[in-house]
Amino acid sequence: MNIIITLAYLLSAILFILGLKNLSSPKTARRGNQLAMTAMLIAIVVTLTKNEILDFTLIIVGLIIGSTIGAIIARKVQMTSVPQMVALFNGLGGCASALVALAEYNRLAGELRIDVIISMVISLFIGAVTFTGSLVAFGKLQGVIRSAPLVFKAQRFLNILLFTLFLIMGIIVTINPANSTCLLAILAIALILGILFVIPIGGADMPVVISTLNSCSGLAAAATGFVLSNNILIICGALVGASGFILTRIMCRAMNRSIANIIFGSVGTASANSNSNDKRKVNNYTEEDASIMLEAAQKVIIVPGYGLAVAQAQFALQELVTLLINSGVDVCYAIHPVAGRMPGHMNVLLAEANVSYDLLFDLGDINDDFQNADVTLVVGANDVINPAARSDSESPLYGMPILNADQAKSVIICKRSLSPGFSGVDNELFYEKKTLMIFGDAKESLNKMIKLLKT
Ligand code: TAP
Repeated sequence: MNIIITLAYLLSAILFILGLKNLSSPKTARRGNQLAMTAMLIAIVVTLTKNEILDFTLIIVGLIIGSTIGAIIARKVQMTSVPQMVALFNGLGGCASALVALAEYNRLAGELRIDVIISMVISLFIGAVTFTGSLVAFGKLQGVIRSAPLVFKAQRFLNILLFTLFLIMGIIVTINPANSTCLLAILAIALILGILFVIPIGGADMPVVISTLNSCSGLAAAATGFVLSNNILIICGALVGASGFILTRIMCRAMNRSIANIIFGSVGTASANSNSNDKRKVNNYTEEDASIMLEAAQKVIIVPGYGLAVAQAQFALQELVTLLINSGVDVCYAIHPVAGRMPGHMNVLLAEANVSYDLLFDLGDINDDFQNADVTLVVGANDVINPAARSDSESPLYGMPILNADQAKSVIICKRSLSPGFSGVDNELFYEKKTLMIFGDAKESLNKMIKLLKT
């Protein structure tokens, strides 16, 4: 029996790794999800069989309640709200790890090996930090709590003090596992540290925080795997921990920020550098001007951004692109790695509208092509085309790789106003001669263009 269980766990681990590999490209992401789901099913079924459970009643009740809530949330959640859903799920993962650690501590009271008690302390600490940290991240993204960074004087000192206290308590519990007061103190410290870790970070930086917390929830699960001596939980947790960490690094690099800058920088809310009293003139055009220009173009590059998601304009955009392609225009999409508010946001959005993957190009593949384009059509994007990232060393965006939208002969920008994007930085491109600003909701503007192109 044992060999079958080990082989099943091995199969599950291989499927998880293949699932992750497939998730790295939009073309194979669906298959990746299916492989990972199969792996999880195998892991759960085998674990339930292995542990010779006498009464399945509570497990079945839990499965039904959990699956129902999960299915309803997954169906109802808006594309723009996925980051807060992930935050909540990470938090619940961390909470589960902390609870398992506490339950095992109670069950094994008095007979704790040193490796098990160390794993318990780690699982409890990281799990509880992840739980409250994720709840704060959820609150900020959902607008339940103020998304601005909350900073106070002795914050760093308090964090260091609490962390030192945790280390001391951890050592005491390891030496004397019967000291349950210290274990509860670790829980309390971790819950407070989770809050303190996330409150100084601005709402717009939350996706990076969420991927970091995602990584933490994986580490907590891996530690729980050691507590339970469950190999597949250790492997799964390590995979989540590593992939969350890699994702955090990718996002930081694409935003030209370090993780330390995000955690300790107290930025991430639209702020400072925007000058709403700017009196410079912009070229305010109509959808009619834009559609004439698009129809006359030979090559058009589309740059989608966060505003596309807000306006839910992906279907209208695809209809417009199809009309242009049918009338002989060469059209493609340029996808910036951090366009939107979560990794792969634009890919997911465009996949929803059945946009062919062959039309999607990453920054590195498309950037030299802008100079050959007649028109760049920007839909709800801002920071990812801000030339200040190339030229203004004082700008917070400086150094962030951007799409060379401004190198096309003309630029059409659909957005509602001159407001800045996520970084809070003004965009010089709005004021350039070659730029046509089409003010309004992206979906409404695109629908007007579609109507005009059809007549
Ligand atoms: P942003 O720079 O945030 O700009 C989005 C623009 O969309 C806004 O300027 C807004 O202008 C416009 N908009 C909003 N609602 C709209 C609507 N209904 N119709 C038309 N326009 C609308 O977006 P971006 O260019 O996609 O850049 C993404 C930013 O998010 C980057 O700074 C990136 O670093 C940051 N970020 C991304 C991620 C990931 S992983 N994707 C994670 C964290 C942070 P109006 O209000 O004038 O309409």
